[in-house]
Formats: sequence, C-alpha cells, structure tokens
Amino acid sequence: MDVPSNGVDSIPGAPVDASLPPAKSSFTRMLGRRMRDGVRHHGFARTLWEMTTALYRIVIELTPARKKARYGDLDYDLEHSVDTTRAKVNVRTQIMATLAGHPYFATEPWLFEQIMQALPADLREFTFVDLGSGKGRTLLMASDHPFRRILGVEFLPALHHAARKNIEKYSSEQQRCKQIESICMDARDFAFPSGPLVIYMFNAFPEPVFTEVLESLHRSVEQNPRQVYVAYRYLEFETLLQTCGWMEKIAGTEHWAVYRNRA
Ligand SMILES: C[S@@+](CC[C@H](N)C(=O)[O-])C[C@H]1O[C@@H](n2cnc3c(N)ncnc32)[C@H](O)[C@@H]1O
Repeated sequence: MDVPSNGVDSIPGAPVDASLPPAKSSFTRMLGRRMRDGVRHHGFARTLWEMTTALYRIVIELTPARKKARYGDLDYDLEHSVDTTRAKVNVRTQIMATLAGHPYFATEPWLFEQIMQALPADLREFTFVDLGSGKGRTLLMASDHPFRRILGVEFLPALHHAARKNIEKYSSEQQRCKQIESICMDARDFAFPSGPLVIYMFNAFPEPVFTEVLESLHRSVEQNPRQVYVAYRYLEFETLLQTCGWMEKIAGTEHWAVYRNRA
C-alpha cells in the first residue's frame, strides 16, 4: 500500500495527501502531538525533560563530527547497491524522526542475524512486520529468510520512498521472499495482518506510542489468536514488554530481546 505524497513529511496518523499542511506547520503539529501524548501519559515534568533531550539530540545530530559518523555504516549499502543508512537523510527528516521518537538509524546486519537465530526455524507461514521501518534495511535483510510476506510501516514519506526504491533495487542470491512492501502510515493505526507474525521494532517510538502499539497488537491477538513474536532492538522500554502478562521473553542480549505470546 502506498499513499501518495505531496513531498512534505506527514504527521503521525494523518493521511499523506495534497491536503497536508505546509511543511512548517507539520513541525509544530508533530511537536504538539508529542507534547500532548507525553503529558497525558506521564505528566508535564517528564515530557519537558524528554523534549529537552530530543532538542539536544537534534543539535548533536547537526555537529560536523556527527555528520561524519553518519557515513560509518555504509558497508551494507555498498554491498547491496541500496541506500539505507542515515548518511543521506536530510536534516528536516532527521528532526521530524527525532521529534517523533528518535533519530533515524538502520539496524546493524550482525545484530539482525542474531535476532533471526532466536526465531522459529520454519518461517514460511510468518509475516515479518517492521514498525518504524525507515529506509527499509530490515525489510531487505528479512527477505533473505523464507517469510511468507514482509511489511514495513513508516510514517515519514521521505524514508518510505527511499524504502520503496531500495525494495526495487535489492538483489541478493540469498533472497527467499519477494513479497515486500513499505506502507506509509502511523504504526498506531496499523491493522496487523492475519496469520503468524514476527513484529520488529528498533528504537522507533516514545513510551506512549509504544504502549498504544502493544495494546493494538494485544487486541489483534485476542480477536484472532495466532503465534506472535516481538523482536525489540534497543531495550529502552523493555519493561512494557516485561509487564504485559500476555507475552514471555524467550531470548535476548544487552542489545535486543525476543518475546512471544503465551500459549
Ligand atoms: C531508529 S529508526 C529504525 C529503522 C528501521 N526499523 C531499522 O531498524 O533499520 C525508527 C523509525 O521509526 C519511524 N517512526 C517513528 N514513529 C513512528 C510511528 N508512530 N509510526 C511509524 N513509524 C514511526 C521513524 O521515522 C524512523 O524511521
């Protein structure tokens, strides 16, 4: 599913179409939404602290040293002739990603393969879903495994469009799944597909959004019971997984954890 874009970044939850507000106001609305969600979820003081941290991250992202560091993980792209790193993400998109949750980063291939080892050996019935899929590197890496289908959910149009190009360009002798799609929308509004699922998340959401996404996943599993694995890279809000009684941890390191729904 691809939603037409007018070339400006969207606001989570809003359709990406010609009725979008001008680029300037989408910053304000993104900021407003983040503040509202935060205050509702954990009060004004913590939200203010989080916004200050986000601002600090944006400033750090703009320093020359940091710009240089962005070119540090180009190996994957060079090997596969794609563009998945944060090196070519423009400042505006980086700021929007930071306001939404965190700056854009792509998953490291060696970590992704570690996580894959914790999943069932037979993935043929599973759909892989990356919530906050960015430029789609995980979608490409997942396609080297025999998933039934692969979906990426990304709400910044610039990153979604990069992902679509990467999906078209990707070629690998290892590729086992060609049903790959990037969808441009807010993960909170995503309707989980039927059939067994592997849900992947890497540092995409602030706590209120993560909470909503987990609730939506829980509702989906209650309505349509099926096997669900959640692979969580970067463990900032792992307590939310630990405390939701319907899942149990089956594997992990200091960098990632895999949970599965209880039978
Ligand atoms: C750290 S990047 C991870 C990219 C990719 N999953 C990977 O591992 O290579 C997080 C991504 O989540 C996206 N994001 C943040 N909030 C989102 C939301 N509510 N819905 C969809 N995508 C979101 C950001 O735009 C960013 O591209």
